[in-house]
Amino acid sequence: MEYRENSLTYEEYVSLRSSVGWNNFDEGQVSNSINNSIYNITAIDNGRAIAMGRLIGDGIYFMIVDIVVKPEFQGKGIGSKIIEMLLKYVDDRTPIGGRASVQLIAEQGKEEFYIKRGFKLIPHEFCGSGMRKIIRK
Ligand SMILES: CC(C)(COP(=O)(O)OP(=O)(O)OC[C@H]1O[C@@H](n2cnc3c(N)ncnc32)[C@H](O)[C@@H]1OP(=O)(O)O)[C@@H](O)C(=O)NCCC(=O)NCCS
Repeated sequence: MEYRENSLTYEEYVSLRSSVGWNNFDEGQVSNSINNSIYNITAIDNGRAIAMGRLIGDGIYFMIVDIVVKPEFQGKGIGSKIIEMLLKYVDDRTPIGGRASVQLIAEQGKEEFYIKRGFKLIPHEFCGSGMRKIIRK
């Protein structure tokens, strides 16, 4: 098992999303999206991608997206390792005395996985609900 940095391909991306039943996007959009991520991780086992995670952001605000572990590899600590690597990337680049905000949208029922990794459910005493708008064409 190895964790590769910034090597995620379109084929790996669509195959991993499909493995957990997520809809995919067209190739051009995926390729742009991967290129525009600031950091991505692919977990490789026997030469095949079995998990991924991506970080997008601007140095102050970050978003973790596309955390996927293939079903047959879940529950082995791989998702945790990917989250740890993505958070370390942000931590390493946050200046002493500064701060950064890492956000994500948990799948229903997966909140606990992230809470264990230090994320807080929102709304809470200091902020309102997260919101999003999907644009379809
Ligand atoms: C959610 C997911 C990324 C977790 O990855 P994983 O490699 O299976 O998780 P790990 O083995 O690292 O588990 C770490 C911990 O989270 C817990 N956990 C894992 N999945 C969980 C879930 N669905 N609900 C609650 N806790 C969960 C584990 O029990 C473990 O707890 P521990 O640290 O106390 O032992 C993975 O199951 C997955 O890809 N699921 C399908 C796609 C998905 O939902 N992605 C997340 C989008 S928000």
